[in-house]
Amino acid sequence: MLKEFLVILIVTAAVALAARIPRATENDFIDIPFKRLKNSAERIQSHGYPGESHFVETEDGYVLNMFRIPYSPKLDNNAKEEEEVQRPVVLIQHGLFSCSDCFLLNGPDNALAYNYADRGYDVWLGNARGNIYSRNNTKININHPNFWAFSWHEIGAYDLPAMIDYILELTGEKALHYVGHSQGCTTFFVMASFRPEYNAKIKTAHMLAPPIFMGNVTEGTVVGLAPYVGSPGIGAELLQNQVFLPWNEVIQRVLDTVCSNDPYLLSYCKTLAIMWGGDLGNLNATLLPQVAETHPAGISTNQGIHFIQSYVSNEFRRYDWGRKKNLAKYGTEEPPAYDLTQITSQVYLYAGPADGSANLKDIARLPQYLSQHTLFEIEDPTWGHLDFIFALKVKEIINDKVISLSETYDWLNKD
Ligand SMILES: *[C@@H]1O[C@H](CO)[C@@H](O)[C@H](O)[C@H]1NC(C)=O
Ligand SMILES: *[C@@H]1O[C@H](CO)[C@@H](O)[C@H](O)[C@H]1NC(C)=O
Ligand SMILES: *[C@@H]1O[C@H](CO)[C@@H](O)[C@H](O)[C@H]1NC(C)=O
Repeated sequence: MLKEFLVILIVTAAVALAARIPRATENDFIDIPFKRLKNSAERIQSHGYPGESHFVETEDGYVLNMFRIPYSPKLDNNAKEEEEVQRPVVLIQHGLFSCSDCFLLNGPDNALAYNYADRGYDVWLGNARGNIYSRNNTKININHPNFWAFSWHEIGAYDLPAMIDYILELTGEKALHYVGHSQGCTTFFVMASFRPEYNAKIKTAHMLAPPIFMGNVTEGTVVGLAPYVGSPGIGAELLQNQVFLPWNEVIQRVLDTVCSNDPYLLSYCKTLAIMWGGDLGNLNATLLPQVAETHPAGISTNQGIHFIQSYVSNEFRRYDWGRKKNLAKYGTEEPPAYDLTQITSQVYLYAGPADGSANLKDIARLPQYLSQHTLFEIEDPTWGHLDFIFALKVKEIINDKVISLSETYDWLNKD
C-alpha cells in the first residue's frame, strides 16, 4: 500500500529514462502505436464478459464511476426478472493508489471479480473519489484545492454509502457482500463505525489486509515519513489537500510501452513491483505491464498523511488538523477515535504474515471490538500486501475462500 510513495520515485525515474532511450529516428518514436487505455468496462468486455459503467453522485458532489459484471456468460444466468434467478450482489473496493482494474487484471480464471461472476454473483467494482475514474464534482472545480481536501474518512463516510445505496436501489436487493483490499478495508471500518446504519446493508465483509491500527507497521515509507508528516505541522501543511501524482495519460502510455516492449526496461517494472509488493516471489509477473498501465491511479495527499498519522498515534481516528482546527471541526483538541463497537456486520479479517503495511499484530487488536468476526492468518509465511490481489495463488488462497463464505451466508439466509 504505502510503498507506493516510493514507487512514485521509481515511476518518475522510469519515465525520465524512457524519454532518453535512443531511438533509430524521430519517426520511430512517433510511430510507436500507443494503445488507448481501456476503462474497466472495456477490459471486462475484452475478457468476454458483459461490462457496465455506472455513475453515482455523493452527497458532497463527487461523481464516482462504478463498473459492473451483471452476470456470467459461462452460467448463462442473464435471466429476466420474472424468471426469478437470484443473483446476490457483491461490491469490491480497491486500495490506496488503485482502482477497479486491480480486481480484473488476473484475467477471467483468477481475478476475484470474474470468480464471483462465475459463481452467480452480480459484481460491482467501486472507485473512490480522486482516482482516475472518479475525478469530477458537481459543486467543486477539480482544479480548486478544496476538491482534494479529503482523506479516507470521506471515502468511507460518503463514497461507500452512496455506492451501496445506488446498487441496492438498482438491483432491488436489501444487502450486499463487501470485499475490500487495504484502504478498501479502512474505508469500510469508517463507514460501519461512523454511519452504523449501513451495517444492516452488509451481508458479509471481507477485509483483505486491513490497515486500521497501524502502530506495528514496518513498511519503510510510513516509518520514514512519520517524523515529517505524522503529526500536524509544517510538513503536513505543505503537503495536504493536493493530488498526489496526477495520473496522466502520457505517463501511463510511456510506462505501458516501457514495461511491455523493452527487455532492458522490464527490470524497472520488476523493481517497481518489488517496491510495491515487497516480494515479487508470489506476484504474477505476467500482469506487470497491466499493473503499470493502470497504477498509480491517484489519491489526495491527505490519504497518505492520514495513514501515517495512524502509525504515529497507534489509534484509529479522524484526520488530525492540529489543535486549533481540530477544535473548530470536532470540538476537541485531539481528533476523535472511531467507535469500532458500532460495527455489527459479519467481518472476516485476512492477515498476511509478510505484510508490512497491515501487520498481523495490529489486525489482532480488532476482534475485541467486533461483535461478529473471524480472523484468518494466511499460512504462507511470505504472503505480502499485494499478494491478496496479484499473487499467482490468489484464487485458491483468497478468492475461493471469500466466495464460499459469501455463498454460505446466502445459502443460510435463503428466503
Ligand atoms: C461531471 O458529472 C456531471 C454529473 O454527472 C456530468 O454532467 C458532467 O458531464 C461530468 N463532467 C465530466 C468532465 O465528466
Ligand atoms: C503493536 O501490537 C501490539 C499487540 O497487538 C499492541 O499492543 C501495540 O500497541 C501495537 N503498537 C506498537 C507501537 O507497539
Ligand atoms: C497472471 O496474469 C495473466 C495476465 O493478466 C493472466 O492471464 C493469468 O491468468 C494470471 N495467472 C494467475 C495464476 O493468476
